[in-house]
Amino acid sequence: MKVADAVLISLVAAGAGLAVGLLGLLVAWLTRRWSIRWQLTLAATVAVLTVFGGVLGVAWLMFLSGHDLLVITVVTSIAVVVAILVALVIGSAMVRWSGAVQLQARQMALGGHQPPSESGPRELRSLSAELAETQRRLEEASAREARLEESRRELISWVAHDLRTPLAGLRAMAEALEDGIAADPHRYHQRIRVEVERLARLVDDLFELSRIQAGALTLTPEPVLLGDLVSEALAGADPVARERRVRLGGQVEDGLEITADPASLSRVVSNLLMNAIRHTPADGTVEVRCRLAPGDVRSVDLSVSDGCGGLDPGDMERVFDLGWQGSYARTPTAPEGAGAQGAGFGLAIVKGLVDAHRGRVWVENLPAATGCRFHVRLPA
Ligand SMILES: Nc1ncnc2c1ncn2[C@@H]1O[C@H](COP(=O)(O)OP(=O)(O)OP(=O)(O)O)[C@@H](O)[C@H]1O
Ligand SMILES: [Mg+2]
Repeated sequence: MKVADAVLISLVAAGAGLAVGLLGLLVAWLTRRWSIRWQLTLAATVAVLTVFGGVLGVAWLMFLSGHDLLVITVVTSIAVVVAILVALVIGSAMVRWSGAVQLQARQMALGGHQPPSESGPRELRSLSAELAETQRRLEEASAREARLEESRRELISWVAHDLRTPLAGLRAMAEALEDGIAADPHRYHQRIRVEVERLARLVDDLFELSRIQAGALTLTPEPVLLGDLVSEALAGADPVARERRVRLGGQVEDGLEITADPASLSRVVSNLLMNAIRHTPADGTVEVRCRLAPGDVRSVDLSVSDGCGGLDPGDMERVFDLGWQGSYARTPTAPEGAGAQGAGFGLAIVKGLVDAHRGRVWVENLPAATGCRFHVRLPA
């Protein structure tokens, strides 16, 4: 075949292909809202018709005999049928696969659970996996939301409870003083002051908690010498410890310094100390220890150990829950020194403040169930 013929055949075939292709694009645009089944069929038909258009053009230029043209027409007609059938089968499968993803999305909206689709082309499978992941995240978020709502509701009822009892007592004492029937007015005044101090502490704790929970806590980090901080906390807790005949001890590695918000850190240590003193029997020991974290020189480990007799393993996580006070929780018969005096906010505040410092807090039991040790790990 001459080069000029080859060029001419190529040009005619390209022209016919272009014409069929443009027509195919036009039909594709007109049927763009139809099922993917028909789009696939159209693509297959356009491919075969492009061949047939080229053949017709070439025959028109007399490069093919009438017999050859007939043969090619029969072959391409059969090819069109086969292409359409294959496209229909693939199209139907695509419809089925996308139907499965649609069902998954619908189930998701109704709150049901549908595992991600394992069949179908890669794009549909990854879409399905993405949907399953989104559903997992949505479920997590709504569980978190429900937990928050639940703890908010509990908090309100606890606060109401914790305010009602002392307020009733205050009213009774004030009335007795007013009516002049208080047998020992001095003792009544003293009791009123103690109750008011307790209420003020409760309100303080609530305020701190609401700032922690709303993420509105503003820390002012500065270098803090842990030796000084622990000494001050021990001095502050000393009167309570003396009253309960609990020995206080402190061991801080020399020159240990971290960058933290001093007021928050003091609160963490004093909350832990108060708890430890409250849960240690007379003649027991409470000890604060501060050192570089073993195996991690970039962290500091501050711990408070007591003689509480050990915590139930099941309670070790729960002690940090807001309002949790163990088995003595808000029972009228709660023994003095157990949960009765607090509101169950102390450790939730400790955890909130330590989290805000990107630290970690946990509790472990001491050997032989003598007591427990609360650890605070903070970045140095
Ligand atoms: N050092 C400890 N030893 C044994 N149990 C403890 C200790 N610290 C806390 N707990 C238990 O965890 C509970 C929750 O402690 P948390 O400090 O949050 O509340 P609280 O001390 O009861 O009240 P608040 O701190 O608001 O005055 C306590 O009621 C107690 O049962
Ligand atoms: Mg406490």
